[in-house]
This record gives sequence, structure tokens and C-alpha cells, in this order.
Amino acid sequence: MKGIWTGAAALVAALAGVEAASYDDIAPIEVYGQHFFYTNNGSQFLMKGVAYQQNYSPNGTTDSNASYTDPLADSAGCKRDLPYLKQLYTNVLRVYAIDPTKDHDDCMETFASAGIYVIADLSEPKTSIVSDDPEWNVDLYRRYTGVVDALSKYKNVIGFFAGNENVSSGNQTAAAAFVKAAVRDTKGYISSQNYRSTMGVGYATADVPTRDDLAAYFACEPGNTGNATQIDFWGYNVYSWCGDSNYADSSYGERYDFFKDYPVPVFFAEYGCIEGITGGPTHRPFTEVQVLYGNMTDVFSGGIVYQWFMSENNYGLVELQDSDASVSPYPDFTSLRSELASVTPTTTARSKYTPSNSAPRAPPQVPPGSPSRRPPRP
Ligand SMILES: *[C@@H]1O[C@H](CO)[C@@H](O)[C@H](O)[C@H]1NC(C)=O
Ligand SMILES: *[C@@H]1O[C@H](CO)[C@@H](O)[C@H](O)[C@H]1NC(C)=O
Ligand SMILES: *[C@@H]1O[C@H](CO)[C@@H](O)[C@H](O)[C@H]1NC(C)=O
Ligand SMILES: *[C@@H]1O[C@H](CO)[C@@H](O)[C@H](O)[C@H]1NC(C)=O
Ligand SMILES: *[C@@H]1O[C@H](CO)[C@@H](O)[C@H](O)[C@H]1NC(C)=O
Ligand SMILES: *[C@@H]1O[C@H](CO)[C@@H](O)[C@H](O)[C@H]1NC(C)=O
Ligand SMILES: *[C@@H]1O[C@H](CO)[C@@H](O)[C@H](O)[C@H]1NC(C)=O
Repeated sequence: MKGIWTGAAALVAALAGVEAASYDDIAPIEVYGQHFFYTNNGSQFLMKGVAYQQNYSPNGTTDSNASYTDPLADSAGCKRDLPYLKQLYTNVLRVYAIDPTKDHDDCMETFASAGIYVIADLSEPKTSIVSDDPEWNVDLYRRYTGVVDALSKYKNVIGFFAGNENVSSGNQTAAAAFVKAAVRDTKGYISSQNYRSTMGVGYATADVPTRDDLAAYFACEPGNTGNATQIDFWGYNVYSWCGDSNYADSSYGERYDFFKDYPVPVFFAEYGCIEGITGGPTHRPFTEVQVLYGNMTDVFSGGIVYQWFMSENNYGLVELQDSDASVSPYPDFTSLRSELASVTPTTTARSKYTPSNSAPRAPPQVPPGSPSRRPPRP
């Protein structure tokens, strides 16, 4: 797939002053302090993302029959969706489960050509850190590192989530220790393989009462281990702005204040509340976009809308038609597009930015649980 022809195409594109066309040439995104930056020119990178996985419930399952469809192995689907993703100014796709044995070149090329990056969760339904019975074991390690192996060559991969909402209630905080072990070992693996060091590993939290302690726990670093166990970014799944809410009622303001001095980037890893909005495919106004890409950009690096594909949970932005050959946008798509079209976020150049808060957080006062088993070193 890669070779002289894509190389030549990239050269032509470069000579014509056009954006990099391939996943070999696209400028990686790096974490510096509290922000993401393009490595080519130091412009700040704000995520305009979409959750991109069909027929998938990211909330965890122990169903031994659960399967998933790898969204980055479906070349035709990626090409079908690209023009619509561009209409939403998409620059990030979040995928929840990929199959490391499949070929992802076509999709990654398609998306790189449009300046679209990927953040991938590392688990799959049958192999994930289970909230009520958490483990970090050799099977999980193999699965996680397999995904890293499969995606590491693509420069449009920003990084990975070692867990998603694995702590959902007060009695599940012990699971955090196992996710943190996964963060540590995945970061260690990326470094031991000499993979691109700009690939980060983070966690996506549910909007639960323990979220502040969790944020501190994942950003803390015991002893003199540098940043070996600290997350590289913090994803926040937040559904608190419903309908025409506002900064205060949605508690966005509170969140902004809380994360002001967080040591690593924070972004909405899922957003787009449909609560109280009835009647089939929803009519979300997406007015939160004005604030998220307005005065929150010095603390939050944008967000990822949940989600592209329509499913039973009714969050989809588009419907697939003609046996999945074509795309038909729902009203949600249209309102999201017009909201995104009207924002002009203020950003900071890397050269003008000095992280003021790079020290890891102190561990939370009340440590999240005491795991009965120590996370083993694979
Ligand atoms: C920096 O590069 C990115 C990716 O090519 C581009 O989208 C952005 O506009 C550039 N920034 C500036 C200030 O040229
Ligand atoms: C996951 O979400 C589905 C609906 O999307 C729901 O039916 C199911 O009960 C949820 N499972 C868990 C474990 O929360
Ligand atoms: C744990 O996190 C992973 C994402 O890495 C997710 O796929 C899985 O569903 C989560 N497990 C539970 C029980 O929420
Ligand atoms: C899994 O699938 C098999 C075959 O279709 C079925 O017999 C079995 O009951 C399923 N198990 C569960 C837990 O759904
Ligand atoms: C948490 O509480 C729920 C409901 O009582 C229970 O089903 C679950 O097993 C508990 N989880 C843990 C880790 O104790
Ligand atoms: C983590 O530490 C390494 C080694 O000290 C450093 O190169 C890297 O930039 C740090 N990463 C972050 C996100 O701070
Ligand atoms: C951000 O904007 C909202 C209104 O859009 C306002 O209520 C809020 O006070 C502003 N926050 C800051 C920190 O300026």
C-alpha cells in the first residue's frame, strides 16, 4: 500500500502547498503541559471529534458472545463517511475497539488525507477491565499491546484510552488501580518498542461523584518515577448540558474551575446529552459548542461528540442507507454543523506557552479503594 506512489503524491502535495496527504507525512500531535499541539508548527490542537464505532455499547459487557466491528478496517465505510465528517470539521475520531489482526491502512490514509486523527480504546468487549471484578492480567496486556502494535505506525494516532468509565459507582474505585497499571504498562511498552513518543495513554471517566478523586489519582505519580504511571491526557464523558442549558446549570463552569491547573490536557471524550429530548432521532441543539470552543479552550482541548452511527440508544448523527452504501444526516448533524461553523476558538501557540502546572497531582486524600490483589507485572 505504502510506497513510491503515495510518496510521490505527498511530494506533489507538498510542492503545491497542500496539507500532507498520507499517514506517513501528517504532523503528529504532541502533549505539552495542558494542551495538544501540532508538531509541525506549534499551533494548538483542539479536538473536534466524533465517536466512531457501529453497533457497540462502550459501557462494558461480560457477555462471552459479544463481538464488535472494527471501524478502521472498513475502507468503503471510511470513504463513505469522510465527506460528511468533513462537514462537521472533524479532526478526531474516537474508536472503541479495533481488531489488531486487520489491515487499517486504507482508513488511516483516508482520514490522514483530511487531517483527521484517531484516539483508540485498547480493550474489546471480551477483554477489558471489568468494573466489578477488575484485573490486569497477561491476556489484557497482550490485547492492549496488540492494539498499540497495530496502530503505532500511523502518525495520525494521538494515543489510547486504557479504560473507559471503568469506575461508574462508589464501590468500583478499586478498578482505578488496575486501569492505572494498564496505563503504566502501555506507556512502558510504547517506550520499550521505541514507538513514536508523542503517542499518549489516557483514561476516559464517567461523570460520577468520584470523578475529582479519580482525576487526581490518575494524574499523580508516586515517588521518583517521572511520569511513568501518570496519564498523558484525561478524557471526560459528560452529558450534563441538555437542550439549551448554560454554563452554570450544566456545571461546565465548575469543571472549568476544577481542571484549571490540571497537569495534562483534558477534553470531552464523549458529549451530547439527549435527556428530555424525545421523538425518534433527536434534535439536539448542541449549544454547548459555543462555550466549549469559546471561553473554555484555555482549559479544555475541545471534545468528541457521541456518536456517528445510529443505534438503539438513539445518539447517532447519521443513518446508513442503501445497504450501508450511503449516509443520510439527521437533524442533530445539521445543528451540530451550524454550531461548529460559527465558532472561532482562541488558541495558544506552543512558543508562547509555558506550562505552569506540570507537577503531577498529589494523590487524593481518600485513595480510590484498596485492591485486594496487587496489579501483576506481566
Ligand atoms: C499548523 O499545521 C496544521 C496541520 O497542518 C494546520 O491545520 C494549521 O492551520 C497550521 N497552523 C498555522 C498557524 O499555520
Ligand atoms: C449498556 O447499555 C445498554 C444500552 O445501550 C444497556 O441495555 C445495558 O444494560 C448497559 N450495560 C451496562 C453494563 O451498563
Ligand atoms: C473498561 O474500559 C474499556 C475501554 O478501554 C471499555 O471498553 C470497557 O467497556 C470498560 N469496562 C467497563 C466494565 O465499563
Ligand atoms: C452464545 O451463543 C451461543 C450460540 O449462538 C448460544 O448457544 C449461547 O447461549 C450464547 N451465550 C450467551 C451468554 O449469550
Ligand atoms: C457494587 O454494588 C453493586 C450493587 O449493590 C453490586 O452489584 C456490585 O457487585 C458491587 N461492586 C463491587 C466491586 O463491590
Ligand atoms: C514524560 O517523561 C519523559 C521523560 O522524562 C519526557 O520525555 C516526556 O516529555 C514526559 N511526557 C509528558 C507528557 O510530560
Ligand atoms: C464563559 O462564558 C459563559 C457564557 O457563555 C459565562 O457564563 C461564563 O462566566 C464564562 N466563563 C468565564 C471563565 O469567563
